[in-house]
Amino acid sequence: MIERCLGARRARQIHRALRHFKVTILCLVMTIVVLRGTIGAGKFGTPEQDFVEIRDHFSPRKRAEPHRVLEEVQTTSSSSSELNNYAAFDLNKLLVDEEDDSEKPDPKKPYSLGPKISDWDEQRSKWLEQNPNFPNFIGPNKPRVLLVTGSSPKPCENPVGDHYLLKSIKNKIDYCRLHGIEIFYNMALLDAEMAGFWAKLPLIRKLLLSHPEVEFLWWMDSDAMFTDMAFELPWERYKDYNFVMHGWNEMVYDQKNWIGLNTGSFLLRNCQWSLDILDAWAPMGPKGKIRTEAGKILTRELKDRPVFEADDQSAMVYLLATQKDTWGGKVYLENAYYLHGYWGILVDRYEEMIENYHPGLGDHRWPLVTHFVGCKPCGKFGDYPVERCLKQMDRAFNFGDNQVLQIYGFTHKSLGSRRVKRTRNDTNNPLEVKDELGLLHPAFKAVKVSSS
Ligand SMILES: *[C@@H]1O[C@H](CO)[C@@H](O)[C@H](O)[C@H]1NC(C)=O
Repeated sequence: MIERCLGARRARQIHRALRHFKVTILCLVMTIVVLRGTIGAGKFGTPEQDFVEIRDHFSPRKRAEPHRVLEEVQTTSSSSSELNNYAAFDLNKLLVDEEDDSEKPDPKKPYSLGPKISDWDEQRSKWLEQNPNFPNFIGPNKPRVLLVTGSSPKPCENPVGDHYLLKSIKNKIDYCRLHGIEIFYNMALLDAEMAGFWAKLPLIRKLLLSHPEVEFLWWMDSDAMFTDMAFELPWERYKDYNFVMHGWNEMVYDQKNWIGLNTGSFLLRNCQWSLDILDAWAPMGPKGKIRTEAGKILTRELKDRPVFEADDQSAMVYLLATQKDTWGGKVYLENAYYLHGYWGILVDRYEEMIENYHPGLGDHRWPLVTHFVGCKPCGKFGDYPVERCLKQMDRAFNFGDNQVLQIYGFTHKSLGSRRVKRTRNDTNNPLEVKDELGLLHPAFKAVKVSSS
């Protein structure tokens, strides 16, 4: 009938409007029913009484009463206040270990990081050609860099450990922002076989293959912190190298010393050579018998190595020392500045450095990185007293943080203090203010603008 008078389209519109109207009425009824329930009205009441009750419920002068009832409920019921108490909550309640249904490796097959790839350089250069908006160099001599770090998927043994992980990532975010570097923080164990210090290998391979636009991947342990925010890496120096670690040629190739290099902070170029060295590096990694037996070989063959299962650093020293001809030509062992700096020889000298030098040097005068080797703030036991580790990690953090705060006119009251003070007064000409280190707009962060 209606269709015939108004035409099909208009009729549909009216039907829709009617439907909407019905829904609106339903909602209104539901609202009143719910309100009646919540304020306890309407048990014996009429709709008029309901309206009075609802009006009183929302009028300010009557508000106090239901509020008080709510407070009473909260204070008298002990279970509810316990339920809201974070300090008393046992986190283990949440950390139920799910059944391990990951694929079991075939014990007859040798371990592999993934399918064999032999033409990565060709695949990658083709991709770069087809994606000119993702260049692997973001300026002259300025490669696109991805800094990769991470920590366990589980909380630390002591919550204070998580606080130091937070400080450590905050420190890395600052350095990377100032230097135009991207960051990846990993918390997933990608390959159960490679747990522990070996977990970085599958992760690094995955990231290199997924990000052809990244020229250098910079691995950094979670217990290492930047202490020179102004030092830009000498990229030009590495143009003919694929792998840059802190270390000494004689200590690695001649003495086979297990601390001849450090794998806590290194650069790896995105290329076929790097995939190959990852494959050559990995075989001692799989946990269990392989890692234990390999540890015995490493302790026997390397200088001064204690007895323990195979670790990635010893394995790298061993690989380079035994296959120098294969790999040595593309490995740069850097010791002109601290790409990694052992904390024991640095942390007590920070005041002396502040007295005599300035950021931007990166070496013993003002170390780029302070690495807390052997402090295990997230674990149960470390190799050094906990108090010394935590105190010195705070000092290293504040030492680096001062260089960030100076940009904004603040500094920590002392290296041991969380509190800050002003170093200059605010002005009505904020854009005229230049920070001492020039970190607000440093040249190394400037973006190349294409002229097209
Ligand atoms: C800020 O200004 C006040 C008053 O002029 C002055 O006493 C103080 O020294 C200044 N502080 C700094 C850090 O320059």
